[in-house]
Amino acid sequence: MSSVSEKIDKNRLPRHIAIIMDGNGRWAKEKGEDRLFGHFHGVESVRNIVEGCAELGVEYLTLYAFSTENWDRPEYEVVGLMELLVSTIRKEVDSLNKNNIRLHVIGDMSMLPEYARNELNEALDITKNNTGLNLIMALSYSGRWELLNAVKNIAWEVKNGRLNIEEINQNILQKFLCTSGFPDPELMIRTSGEYRISNFLLYQLAYAELYFTNVRWPDFRKENLYEAIADYQSRERRFGKISEQVEGNEVV
Ligand code: IPE
Ligand code: IPE
Ligand code: MG
Repeated sequence: MSSVSEKIDKNRLPRHIAIIMDGNGRWAKEKGEDRLFGHFHGVESVRNIVEGCAELGVEYLTLYAFSTENWDRPEYEVVGLMELLVSTIRKEVDSLNKNNIRLHVIGDMSMLPEYARNELNEALDITKNNTGLNLIMALSYSGRWELLNAVKNIAWEVKNGRLNIEEINQNILQKFLCTSGFPDPELMIRTSGEYRISNFLLYQLAYAELYFTNVRWPDFRKENLYEAIADYQSRERRFGKISEQVEGNEVV
């Protein structure tokens, strides 16, 4: 393996890495190509990063592939992305299985065209017994959609007498999120030089370490992932406490 990967402490890996895969369109335009060309090449990065995470032993990888707001893009791009999604899943599902990777999807599946939903459901089913990396695709996802959905579902539970208002706490709320089965990401990476969250995992990123790189998603490879993890490992995560407490020194 490479020199950067040797800088990584394998005993202190983030369990969950979340990535905003951004910059496909600009990458393509810079090459005088159509935006869809960028998305097409972005799939190569997905393959490489999934493999990198599986090799390291990262337990959860969430990839932001399509936001609720992305539905408002020009129709040809939306259709092109859906077709790319379906053909990629079809091509990759065997290799996911071989590598013991379990696929999950978070987002508003009702917005997806039926053929895409069917293909996804099949892939979820085929990989459901795998016990290695959990690959979570955020598709037609947004943090505000997720929170709104959670609020509505909690309200139903209360209305139907299955839940008391006094019982609602952070644990209960967490159970109504799409990510209820997963730990919060410790590391969030965004590519392409944008410094924003763009409606990604608003609740779950509360204490995530954020890492931004100018590298466009189609150029992002394992080496870049290792850089991000090494950077994450150089940080002190205090969760509101002070350094001395985090270092384990007794403080009265
Ligand atoms: C990210 O790349 C992929 C999706 C949002 C689907 P973009 O398509 O946002 O590329 P830029 O940001 O316009 O370069
Ligand atoms: C965020 O990227 C969504 C995905 C990467 C899927 P966008 O390109 O849609 O975000 P903005 O519009 O730059 O904030
Ligand atoms: Mg973008």
